[in-house]
Amino acid sequence: MSNINIKPEKLHTTDLGEVRIRRNLNLQIDNVVLWCKEVVKEADMIMRQGKNWYAYRNGVVLTINAQSHTIITAHPVNPELRLMRSEDYQCLSGFLYHAIFVPEGVEPPPRSIINDPAIYVYIKDFGSKPGDIGVVAEQNDQIIGAAWTRIIPSYGHIDDETPELAISILPAFREYGIGTKLMKKLFTVLRTNGYSRTSLSVQKDNPAVRFYERLGYRVTEEKSDHVGNVDFIMLKELI
Ligand SMILES: CC(C)(COP(=O)(O)OP(=O)(O)OC[C@H]1O[C@@H](n2cnc3c(N)ncnc32)[C@H](O)[C@@H]1OP(=O)(O)O)[C@@H](O)C(=O)NCCC(=O)NCCS
Repeated sequence: MSNINIKPEKLHTTDLGEVRIRRNLNLQIDNVVLWCKEVVKEADMIMRQGKNWYAYRNGVVLTINAQSHTIITAHPVNPELRLMRSEDYQCLSGFLYHAIFVPEGVEPPPRSIINDPAIYVYIKDFGSKPGDIGVVAEQNDQIIGAAWTRIIPSYGHIDDETPELAISILPAFREYGIGTKLMKKLFTVLRTNGYSRTSLSVQKDNPAVRFYERLGYRVTEEKSDHVGNVDFIMLKELI
């Protein structure tokens, strides 16, 4: 659980809060507050935004007044999907780091890995070139996922007409369908901008290969990257 000053034993709600939580989550349980306390104790992530805490667990977000510990409401996580704006570019380094595949049981690399020029090229001066197109998923004023494309000399480069994709969703929000929705939004934006296909490179062992195949990508090439990992180059036709 994130290190934040919620005291689960102090959590409570109002009669109306209880009705809202039951209705929004379709909860069929006796003790709503007890259930919410467990969500908070086991939360994947807790964020403070203004006067509220937001606690995330299993695709659900609880809104809690930070002063009074009142649970105001609860919803399924359902981020807004929108175009990336210039003020969002500062988040790209974090999402680039999260896009790096870490096999199970392997120590994550240091954050500084993104400064490797072969990786940094995915975000360097983003917004300055044709093909620099991005979408984000935003929940409670926080960006929780980003997908973007570039036409750059990088692993998944196919030709100068084909933007290459990078994507990551913050770990607490993975496997709730957000990545799929974000990709579909990006495809629409790419089509609107006149692109007819998009490429990517992905490590052969990354479970994301299945995710991309489901979204219509096919493998066009298998090759080793500069540190010896075997990558698939994948291509999706947009028309
Ligand atoms: C890949 C990723 C963007 C998918 O977003 P998501 O919101 O989790 O995806 P969805 O819920 O729409 O779809 C789930 C699918 O993602 C894939 N997936 C699941 N866990 C994953 C993980 N830890 N890493 C990569 N892909 C994963 C699987 O194909 C899964 O479907 P399946 O369980 O039926 O096989 C997200 O898991 C992520 O950020 N992973 C880490 C970064 C990454 O690997 N980026 C791609 C680099 S090329």
